[in-house]
Amino acid sequence: MKRLFTLLALLSGLSLSAQEYLGGDHALYKVTASGRYLILPVEDAAPDALVHILSDNYFVEKIYVRLAREKVDYCVPLDLSRYQGHISLDVMVEGVNSIRWQDIASSESFSPDPDEAFRPSYHFTPAYGWMNDPNGMVYKDGEYHLFYQYNPYGSRWGNMHWGHAVSRDMIRWEHRPVALRPTALGDVFSGSCVASGDTIAAIYTSAGKHQVQSLAYSTDGGLSFTPYPLNPVISSTTECRDPKVFRHPVTGLWTLVLASPLEHQVRFYTSENLRDWTYRSSFGAGWGRQDGIWECPDLFELPTPDGSRWVLIVNLNPGGLYGNSATQYFVGQFDGYEFVCESSPEKVKWLDYGPDHYAAVTWSGQPGSRHTLLAWMSNWRYADVVPSRPFRSADSLPRDLALYQEDGEHYLAVTPVEEVKALRGKAAYKGGFRVGAKAKKILLPESCQGHCEILFDANSSRGPLQCVLSNGKEELLMTVDFKDRTFRMDRSRSGDCSFSPDFASSVFQGPLHNESFRIFVDASSVEVFTADGKMAMTALIFPSSPYDRLCFSSETGGTNIKNLIVYPLK
Ligand code: FRU
Repeated sequence: MKRLFTLLALLSGLSLSAQEYLGGDHALYKVTASGRYLILPVEDAAPDALVHILSDNYFVEKIYVRLAREKVDYCVPLDLSRYQGHISLDVMVEGVNSIRWQDIASSESFSPDPDEAFRPSYHFTPAYGWMNDPNGMVYKDGEYHLFYQYNPYGSRWGNMHWGHAVSRDMIRWEHRPVALRPTALGDVFSGSCVASGDTIAAIYTSAGKHQVQSLAYSTDGGLSFTPYPLNPVISSTTECRDPKVFRHPVTGLWTLVLASPLEHQVRFYTSENLRDWTYRSSFGAGWGRQDGIWECPDLFELPTPDGSRWVLIVNLNPGGLYGNSATQYFVGQFDGYEFVCESSPEKVKWLDYGPDHYAAVTWSGQPGSRHTLLAWMSNWRYADVVPSRPFRSADSLPRDLALYQEDGEHYLAVTPVEEVKALRGKAAYKGGFRVGAKAKKILLPESCQGHCEILFDANSSRGPLQCVLSNGKEELLMTVDFKDRTFRMDRSRSGDCSFSPDFASSVFQGPLHNESFRIFVDASSVEVFTADGKMAMTALIFPSSPYDRLCFSSETGGTNIKNLIVYPLK
């Protein structure tokens, strides 16, 4: 890796050392580079340097970068074409003299390291840098837009921008330039978009000294946004964030749901023009899981046999089943002003039973009554130390939502979008068998290693079924417990778990309503769904080499596997 960066610097023909030490923790770096990009060396463990970008002596932008000292973990580009005049970096950080100024290079282009071991093949990831929440997801003119919380200057959280990508099927994505950058009001935290005519409007949190809600418009299909000059459009004296906007079908008003994280509440507002907002009501005090903080809400209507219900999604961190970041939801009625939940306050409904499903929200403006959800496939307990670097974090598979009824209550059924089937190659295995104590081993051909879909039906009159994905050294253990009616996943031997004691401290468990399974394996994730949509389980894994075998066993015997199919996913 290090060799690559040295090579990069040599190729660029420029090793720039133009820094001037100004005393204390302060240095000035005069950019003499001629290339479009200044290539900054980053060390993940180094302290964040506060870098003011100056153009002809004037301040233009502030970023934080963990400028390398001991070693270069990876490089990030600073696009100089955005600035005019002579550029200088005014750098403030303790021990500024130990920065590896000699490793700053210049280049006409930048391409991220293509050999990242844990880069998924069919889940969305940023080209490089850190990503958290999916944001502003909006469907317009046949294209799905995905914006996301993005740090272009490192693989840890910070410098929140909105990254951008577009897709026609929510599976195959094309990267677009950064859509929203921090302003003097603060970093660009989570929010949402609505499309109206030729315009896409984004409403998001500006997180500076205080959190306020801002508006920005795009008239070029989301490529660039202009912030509304009179921002903020909503302010409050308490922490509030992650606005989700939609047009209410009955009142016809723009309607906004906003998280009030520390109070475990969401607030509802209405507006006629997206600029002037009226507070209407709040929901949450005493409802559902109250641990941690409430973030990233969503509110939408889904059809039911007797009409419709409204679903209020609230992500909370921590407070999930394993003390993790997680997604809970409430079902009820919403008249445009107030949400009335149909369950009792203590009832908790989970959208996913795994540890790595957070900040999940749906696309705006999808045709018909379709509501597709996307989650950030990570967890705040260890997101910034997982061993995928320099990109960090992937999104889940997009999932279609529908309501079903059970014991007088409505619940969400979760199904991977139909579009994912287009990735299937020719089935690598088809069959069925009886399972006993001796493991039935299926070798996965190379086409399936690290990226496949596994389907099977299981039934048993007796003890649990164990289903193991393994590479010979490491294994992911899944258990179907027919008696307990649970599905369990143990990733304690699944690969690298060493980066955080929290990563493998629990066995994950979901309810078993149905015994038809669909398992999606990618380079660093596993997602399990039951065919009825009543259980989804999402977990990260970091095996040292792709799993190349699938083993079924049952100590008690008497278990049947039917309709087993393994598809490579291209
Ligand atoms: C959720 C969250 C949001 C916030 C964003 C900042 O993961 O904390 O509440 O807007 O991340 O990146």
